Amino acid sequence: MFQQQSKVLFNEPVSDAYYKIGLACSEHFSMAKAGQFIMLRTTRQTQPLLRRPFSIHNLIINSGVTEGLEILYKVVGQGTALLERQKPGDIVDIFGPLGSGFLIPRQAGRIYFVAGGIGVAPLVFLVSQLGRRNIDLSDCRAFIGGRKREDLLCLDDFIQHGVSVQTTTDDGSAGDQCLVTHPLEDVVEQTKPDIIVACGPMEMLACIIGITEKFDVPCQVSIETMMACGMGACLGCAVEGRDQPDRYLHTCLDGPVFDAAELKF
Ligand SMILES: Cc1cc2nc3c(=O)[nH]c(=O)nc-3n(C[C@H](O)[C@H](O)[C@H](O)COP(=O)(O)OP(=O)(O)OC[C@H]3O[C@@H](n4cnc5c(N)ncnc54)[C@H](O)[C@@H]3O)c2cc1C
Ligand code: FES
Repeated sequence: MFQQQSKVLFNEPVSDAYYKIGLACSEHFSMAKAGQFIMLRTTRQTQPLLRRPFSIHNLIINSGVTEGLEILYKVVGQGTALLERQKPGDIVDIFGPLGSGFLIPRQAGRIYFVAGGIGVAPLVFLVSQLGRRNIDLSDCRAFIGGRKREDLLCLDDFIQHGVSVQTTTDDGSAGDQCLVTHPLEDVVEQTKPDIIVACGPMEMLACIIGITEKFDVPCQVSIETMMACGMGACLGCAVEGRDQPDRYLHTCLDGPVFDAAELKF
């Protein structure tokens, strides 16, 4: 894990309230795994005091050298509003990569990616890492859901790797008007994947875990709890484990990616 002052390379709107920021980083980040995150704070801020966690959305690689990383973020409060104001050349404070990443078994050829809203951020990194390893993704599918059209992000990132994409919205403004778990369940019933990987709201993840248990499919989920320190010191990110009563896991250290069987939802 490394702390560094990182120069903003770009900071651009992607959709309603969503932005993508590019940050220069050291070559150490080349070992980052999809699902890992950074803690970030703009350097001149006093409020909010605490760093905020963000998934690594992608690496910026030039001639084989890792020069930066990308974060896809949604402005929801004070910290992300400050981030939105950063200009190229500004400096932010980051440390990472932190936490666990997705562990895709070598033999898994049929992977179903499921994203709700901003939950798509780490899954894009996963699909591009798999693509970089020249893994054939043509049997894989992505299910991307959001409240409305503007919440459906990064569809092309999946399509360009040969992954077929199905979209849903709550208001019917794009894709099917239903929850993203509906088409997922239909497809899983017909063709079981080797693994499901998911990131999004807790209710969505709970429903996906129900589906994977019903059809006996392995599943890894990336969860986004509140975090204060990001390194196991504050207990702010504790989630209940499933195997032993009263056993709590740290999202920042034991996660954010968990085997679904580890968590009590
Ligand atoms: C491991 C991890 C990875 C994450 N990756 C991303 C990412 O790639 N892109 C992104 O946009 N966000 C991501 N988040 C969520 C992000 O950290 C929060 O949106 C951010 O901390 C909000 O900061 P703020 O100061 O703008 O909002 P605050 O003022 O702190 O909060 C504003 C509102 O957002 C809610 N909120 C804050 N944090 C979370 C959270 N973790 N989950 C749900 N609601 C929250 C608060 O309850 C409040 O209602 C991630 C969180 C975790 C734990
Ligand atoms: S965020 Fe402090 S212990 Fe996990």
